[in-house]
Amino acid sequence: MGKAKAVRTGPRAMLGYAVGLLSVTATLLVAQLQFNLQAAPVSLFLCAIMFTAWIGGLKAGVLATVLSLLSFKYYFLAPVHSLAVDSAEIPRLAVFALAAVFVLAITGAQKRSEEKLRQTARELQTNIEDLNRTQHELHKAQAELAHMTRLTTMGELTASIAHEVNQPLTAVVNNANACISLLEPASNRPGEVGPDGASNLEDIREALGEIRDDAERASAVVGRVRQLAKRAPVEKSLLDLKDVVKDVLALARYESVARRVTIRTDLSQELPRVSGDRVQLQQVLLNLVMNGMDAMNSVPEEKRILLVVGKQTAAAGTPAALLCVQDAGIGLKAEEMDRLFEAFYTTKPDGMGMGLAISRSIIEAHGGRLWAEPNSGPGATFLISLPAGGDNNS
Ligand SMILES: Nc1ncnc2c1ncn2[C@@H]1O[C@H](COP(=O)(O)OP(=O)(O)OP(=O)(O)O)[C@@H](O)[C@H]1O
Ligand SMILES: [Mg+2]
Repeated sequence: MGKAKAVRTGPRAMLGYAVGLLSVTATLLVAQLQFNLQAAPVSLFLCAIMFTAWIGGLKAGVLATVLSLLSFKYYFLAPVHSLAVDSAEIPRLAVFALAAVFVLAITGAQKRSEEKLRQTARELQTNIEDLNRTQHELHKAQAELAHMTRLTTMGELTASIAHEVNQPLTAVVNNANACISLLEPASNRPGEVGPDGASNLEDIREALGEIRDDAERASAVVGRVRQLAKRAPVEKSLLDLKDVVKDVLALARYESVARRVTIRTDLSQELPRVSGDRVQLQQVLLNLVMNGMDAMNSVPEEKRILLVVGKQTAAAGTPAALLCVQDAGIGLKAEEMDRLFEAFYTTKPDGMGMGLAISRSIIEAHGGRLWAEPNSGPGATFLISLPAGGDNNS
């Protein structure tokens, strides 16, 4: 290591000494051309010392100082062309030496602080790069965690989703059977009187229309599930939150029927569009809806009402979209208000306690806010505010 350093610093040190030698020589040449003995070029020597110390470092600076002192004495102080010192000239020589040392010290200090500054800038750059890398990895981990919790929430919905797909498929099968029997010759249909081609054709057309609608319904459910289940990079676009609410409620529809929960919506036409990731916002809303339904498990059926409200609001003076999910469930205890959004805080036997923690980080990454408020009556309301994004006039 030490050897490598010596090899590295050797030529550089030599360069510094050469700079010292050259700059003092140059000073002498200029001095010989421009000045007479009375006007000794002290400032030129000081410049040479400063220049050498700046370029070549302290040792080269010392060399330039010694050379300057000797040259100054030899060429400019009586007796000239001799290194002997006349006692009358000692004060001038001393002042010059003092000035030279002073310049050397100041230049050295400046150089050191510049190097320190450079070093700090380099360290800062490395720190910033590290920070960026860490941030990138954090975002990746967060997205991964969000994806996993999304899958967990969807796991809870499996039975409902299966039912949601099965219903239209059963209708498709029934209508297909009807078509088949309508297409059979009348002789094969005991009890039916003569063929009525025109009305059969009308019935078949109607049944086929229903088959198409039911198939589209089933495919829409599968599409929504696939969209929510996929592991996709975060992709922000201008979203109408009414569509996000619609998609989530379509997924949770059968679950709400099974749990005897009535879901109501009140979505204002003025609800501003927001810039966001559709899947992530669906995930947040789905968790709030599922939490709301969970909270109402133990209340009488007729009181199980979940209200989703969407309206325009203002956050810090700028227009924002506000989504509220209000339930009439067990409500929030004062002491749990602070803990709701903590990771792994759950009161459910099979809960993971990640839903609200992930939801809050998603909403904050969208520049918004997610918080909870107790209702004046029974239950709780969870509120999301998101800054209005882009052109909201269209
Ligand atoms: N609407 C609500 N009413 C009452 N308590 C609620 C409500 N929403 C959430 N909580 C409380 O907050 C806790 C944390 O909710 P969170 O969604 O983070 O996790 P979880 O629902 O328990 O599990 P999961 O990770 O599966 O979502 C819940 O266990 C519950 O105690
Ligand atoms: Mg939850």
